[in-house]
Amino acid sequence: MPKVAPSILAADFSVLGDEVRRIGEAGADYIHIDIMDGVFVPNITIGPPVIRSLRKFTDVPFIAHLMISHPERHIDAFAESGSDIIEIHIESDQADPHETLRAIRRAGCKAGLAVNPPTPIESMFDYLNEIDLVLVMSVNPGFGGQSFLPEILPKIPAVKKELEERGLDIPIEVDGGINRETGLLASEAGADILAAGTYVFRSRSAKEAIDSLRGAGEESKS
Ligand code: DX5
Ligand code: ZN
Repeated sequence: MPKVAPSILAADFSVLGDEVRRIGEAGADYIHIDIMDGVFVPNITIGPPVIRSLRKFTDVPFIAHLMISHPERHIDAFAESGSDIIEIHIESDQADPHETLRAIRRAGCKAGLAVNPPTPIESMFDYLNEIDLVLVMSVNPGFGGQSFLPEILPKIPAVKKELEERGLDIPIEVDGGINRETGLLASEAGADILAAGTYVFRSRSAKEAIDSLRGAGEESKS
């Protein structure tokens, strides 16, 4: 059964604390927080002070998805703000991704590594021993509400196979354009965590949306 990580990019930012509490009560396994700097991606969102203020609204673990240049400059700030998992992009400008990943773990967080749709999944194989989570992007990052790109699907079994061969038990998260149908495709391909913004936050019932994403995983096994 996949875990579900609602992305607050689709929440009402004027009442973000209430939104985070609501989604936690609806059964979210993680809360996915999209951090954009207007450089690595064309959009700007929020930073560590907002995460820090959200921390008191829920105990659900926070995933900080950093879509920023030079993430190495900000790891301690995101760790201190209450992030549990910090994800960086292999494509972003940084001194050395190995060192950034080590800095995340040193700061007491779990380290995730993300790949954009055009980036071959093999480019992250050098880093698999230093990470706690793989993030396969199913849209080009920058905005919520985009359509899922099915051509990324083969990356999921490819990285899963590599992890198994190395004896690594690391979850694979898929992010972007996830709804009941695309969540099923991702689950069938082997995704362990589904990040979903629009589908969860804009649905009539967040609980039903979250449950349906979990159910998609159950169907994929039968
Ligand atoms: C895209 C973000 C995603 C996005 C998901 O840049 O990383 O997390 O918010 O939103 P939906 O589910 O609406 O595609
Ligand atoms: Zn994201």
